[in-house]
Amino acid sequence: MDAFNRSYLRFLGFIAKSVFVPVPIILIWEITYRCNMRCRFCDARLLNGKYYRNEFTTQEGLMLLKQATDMGAKLLYLTGGEPLLREDIGQILRFAKKIGMVTMLGTNGFYLEDKIEQIYKDLDYLRVSIDSLRIHDCIRVCNSAFENALRGIKLAKKMGMNIIINATVTSETIDEMEDLAKFAEDLNCGITLSPLVLKFRGEGNSGIDFSGLLPEYGDYVLSVNRLKEKYPCILNSDPYLSLVRRGGIGYAGIKCKACDIMLSANPQGDIYFPCNTNPVEKINLKMTGELKKVWHSKAANHIRREVKNYNFCKSCMDRCYVLPSLFFSVRGICDFLRHTGHRRRFF
Ligand SMILES: C[S@@+](CC[C@H](N)C(=O)[O-])C[C@H]1O[C@@H](n2cnc3c(N)ncnc32)[C@H](O)[C@@H]1O
Ligand code: SF4
Ligand code: SF4
Repeated sequence: MDAFNRSYLRFLGFIAKSVFVPVPIILIWEITYRCNMRCRFCDARLLNGKYYRNEFTTQEGLMLLKQATDMGAKLLYLTGGEPLLREDIGQILRFAKKIGMVTMLGTNGFYLEDKIEQIYKDLDYLRVSIDSLRIHDCIRVCNSAFENALRGIKLAKKMGMNIIINATVTSETIDEMEDLAKFAEDLNCGITLSPLVLKFRGEGNSGIDFSGLLPEYGDYVLSVNRLKEKYPCILNSDPYLSLVRRGGIGYAGIKCKACDIMLSANPQGDIYFPCNTNPVEKINLKMTGELKKVWHSKAANHIRREVKNYNFCKSCMDRCYVLPSLFFSVRGICDFLRHTGHRRRFF
């Protein structure tokens, strides 16, 4: 049995355990909300100033990682904002690896060349955003965004890193998906074609007008399914695509397990329940000190019971959070078993 299958079986073991007790198997830490870009669809640019100050210090971050692994966390996903803006990113990844976590980081790629020495040894998966071959800089409101990310990807590839390009697909770029897949194939990278979704993070949501930007989801699913036949580098899983086709996790009849198996933390150490897409409750780790207390708090348990009743969950497609939930539903498991022809298609 190869390493991938072994870790998959171990992962299923943890999943089975967390059916009975909530276990934060995946830690999604938005390590900073600071960003050098101002993407038209992203609320990071709209968060107010308090979200840019009082970030967790390095020591506080390491404590979060240690407490999370003590409670069963196996996978760390660092995102933001732009995580490479954190000066201590190398130190944090090194520590995560030392305590046995699988590590993944999402970046816009702008500083990849500068930072690669600090991260490449301790990162299992690097996700780099490339949304378009035509209008990437315009979407990201940043000169040389494409050029810098591409240079970073090429260097990371040379250094032997596992790279997954993430393209956020909007109504403006839906016709470019094949070009993007070809681009990833030529670079020998994986690619996820992720539909733009409505996100309501904290206080940042209100200023974005998504209406003209959301892709036609039915067309999106049909096209990705067609492209997957031709491009094995496309990593979107069938269960996720089928959830998008049905209009969201609630409409697909699946209960979201975000707050049972995932720990969602912001830069200041607020733990979001049920998730950062729609945080009903934020509990600050600095105030309480003990992650276990936060995770098993009355408020968290209340939300776990209520989550099936939240209206906003019906149409939710936020892949980071809903995808692991698919492992728990009978429909999701059947879908996975039917469609695991390409074993890396887990996104
Ligand atoms: C929030 S960013 C953080 C990491 C990094 N700054 C980047 O751009 O990759 C993570 C990913 O979320 C995507 N994203 C942002 N807003 C989104 C939305 N409303 N729907 C879907 N994806 C979104 C971005 O394009 C990016 O690929
Ligand atoms: S998508 Fe990433 S790069 Fe763009 S504004 Fe959001 S955090 Fe910054
Ligand atoms: S369905 Fe979406 S909004 Fe609801 S708990 Fe899950 S991730 Fe959060």
